Amino acid sequence: MSKITIAIDGFSSTGKSTIAKQLARHLGYVYVDSGAMYRAVTFYAMDNDLITDDFFDVEALISQLENIKISFVFNEDLGFAEVYLNGVNIEKEIRTLRVSSFVSKVAEISEVRALLVKQQQHMGRNKGVVMDGRDIGTVVFVDAELKLFMTASAETRAIRRYNELLERGDDVVYEDVLRNVQERDYIDSHREDSPLIMAEDAIEIDNSTLTLEAQFDMILDLANKALEKEKSSET
Ligand code: DC
Repeated sequence: MSKITIAIDGFSSTGKSTIAKQLARHLGYVYVDSGAMYRAVTFYAMDNDLITDDFFDVEALISQLENIKISFVFNEDLGFAEVYLNGVNIEKEIRTLRVSSFVSKVAEISEVRALLVKQQQHMGRNKGVVMDGRDIGTVVFVDAELKLFMTASAETRAIRRYNELLERGDDVVYEDVLRNVQERDYIDSHREDSPLIMAEDAIEIDNSTLTLEAQFDMILDLANKALEKEKSSET
């Protein structure tokens, strides 16, 4: 049976994971949250005192990369795979604002990127994967049959993220969340290695005013068209 690769990139909190999970469930594909892998490395650095507000031992992190084993384990109840670091479920720990405030710095390191990109390409080697991140269409799967680039205003995204954190019970201030969104936008799109840019063949989706249903219908239609094209190219 024909399968395609779906690459979803965009700024933080643009709803990439929501649409990626919906698509993967609908198509019976594997969903991979590549951001969770950068967050897992960040969590490792925090846990081992390699990064604090005014200190980051990049060399030590690079030399310890071989100690970092990231895996995904599907959780039937949640309907998606949770991230594990060296066999320990860290899905909750990696979603805090503290991890978000350090993750862009970790994601700037070329050695970290090279390692994670290799693992991501391995996960997608048989196609049938929906992966979201920042460089999926430009670096990880340059030949993906469908590439989406999600956008929405920084304020819309900060409100979404703020509500998510409140729902989790985190004590956060909206202005801090907005600042984190804007800082990450800047670092993610200005870093030297694999900056966040839209692939030339990506389709831009601005979902500031789209309902989740409208967005899903529109994107499923794009996925079905890409699948048809793939099928006809195989015959
Ligand atoms: O998608 P997210 O917010 O969980 O991603 C966390 C950070 O990881 C994001 O600020 C940038 C980085 N990242 C990246 O550089 N490349 C990816 N493919 C995914 C995430």
